[in-house]
Amino acid sequence: MKSNDSPKTYRVKSFGCQMNVYDGERMGELLEAKGITPAAEGEDADLVVLNTCHIREKATEKVYSDIGRIEKSGREAGKKPMIAVAGCVAQAEGEEIIKRSPGVGMVVGPQAYHRLGDMVDRAAKGERSTDTDMPENAKFGALPARRRVSPTAFLTVQEGCDKFCTYCVVPYTRGAEISRPYNDLVEEAKRLVDAGAREITLLGQNVNAWNGEDGKGRSVGLEGLIHALAALPDLKRIRYTTSHPNDMTDALIAAHGEVDKLMPYLHLPVQSGSDRVLKAMNRSHTAESYLKLLDRFREVRPDIALSGDFIVGFPGETDAEFEETLQIVDAVGYASAFSFKYSPRPGTPAASMENQVPMEVMDGRLQRLQAHLSRDQYAFNQASVGKTCDVLIERKGRRPGQMLGKSPWLQSVFFDSKLQIGDMVRAELVQAGPSSLQGRVLEMATA
Ligand code: SAH
Ligand code: SF4
Ligand code: F3S
Repeated sequence: MKSNDSPKTYRVKSFGCQMNVYDGERMGELLEAKGITPAAEGEDADLVVLNTCHIREKATEKVYSDIGRIEKSGREAGKKPMIAVAGCVAQAEGEEIIKRSPGVGMVVGPQAYHRLGDMVDRAAKGERSTDTDMPENAKFGALPARRRVSPTAFLTVQEGCDKFCTYCVVPYTRGAEISRPYNDLVEEAKRLVDAGAREITLLGQNVNAWNGEDGKGRSVGLEGLIHALAALPDLKRIRYTTSHPNDMTDALIAAHGEVDKLMPYLHLPVQSGSDRVLKAMNRSHTAESYLKLLDRFREVRPDIALSGDFIVGFPGETDAEFEETLQIVDAVGYASAFSFKYSPRPGTPAASMENQVPMEVMDGRLQRLQAHLSRDQYAFNQASVGKTCDVLIERKGRRPGQMLGKSPWLQSVFFDSKLQIGDMVRAELVQAGPSSLQGRVLEMATA
């Protein structure tokens, strides 16, 4: 392809959180509305969108090595692919990327990608452009209608963050907290269900901060939206992620005891078990208030699977404070969790704090923490053996004939039976592994 040709094929590569996955899907839909088709697997695309993540240093470094790789592969094939950098690195570094990488034609932030189509037209004329504006909610209204068919779909309901945890870039890359309007969301959910979605995961950097006015003009929180979606007959499952402990409401907790379609799973990051560290992180919850919150979920939904995020080696974290993180892990018994070494991010308060923890200390702490978390995940899976539950089949497994789905508790369940993607089966969980289970189909569920 010459640099002035309009692209015929595209590929979007999304990194980072599920909100980026959602954005990546929507950028794909937008490009397809312009007549650009997805590149076949294994083939180079005319236009590559790198939908990037800025959360940790490693994630950010990856962008530049990816750009280099795409350019090299283009050169070898005698082509010059168009490259767009989208997502949180685009927002954080903007023009810098254009300056540093001559092969990049477009830089577009997470709130501006509805204008990607115009940018592609300009790039075809050899014009490079950057758009990192943050107009509130503008992109959603300007995007083409949904036409996704996967049985599990993401729906971004809330964006941005006002919490300013001292280690985190999200408030800078995603902007202030905003909630999308209730009616738009019910409409988008209906379209997703019409297109084949059977499970919808509501997404937000602080999803439980979502609020809006329902169809009758009443103020509602996330539970109101959940109740509305639960009324869609062909939608079988609802999930939401990620929540912040401070935004949790009685009504949302109660919804876990009221709405059958709301899955018994909660991702509620705590980050550390030490109150001193939590304070330095600006988390504004304590280890105890967090544990009390979890108790309230367990009261209404005793089988709820709990998940969380952890950071080890926050500046100044002592051995004793790290032990407190292990203690909270042991107290909770997580079904799954994500754990990270602290990564200093430019412009965040923690990056300039004293007493940065040496890498080898962080390595040791992460290893110990992950040993506890893996132990608990395995125990949770083992305790599930013998249970009967519905499993929604999502994709093929690695072995021929094998199919994989998710239990209500978000565990991966494998089957060696003839099943289709999108099937909901009634299954017995027969065997547990460290991060998945083997299932046996009892019957097709029509629930
Ligand atoms: N809004 C969500 C998720 C934000 S990012 C929340 O507050 O829970 C996902 C996770 O990345 C965070 O929960 C945190 O554990 C981790 N994270 C964020 N910034 C980080 C940093 N600078 N270094 C290491 N981990 C980080
Ligand atoms: Fe980052 Fe904290 Fe906001 Fe989560 S709540 S996105 S960790 S600033
Ligand atoms: Fe990464 Fe941005 Fe998500 S920094 S985790 S892609 S909000």
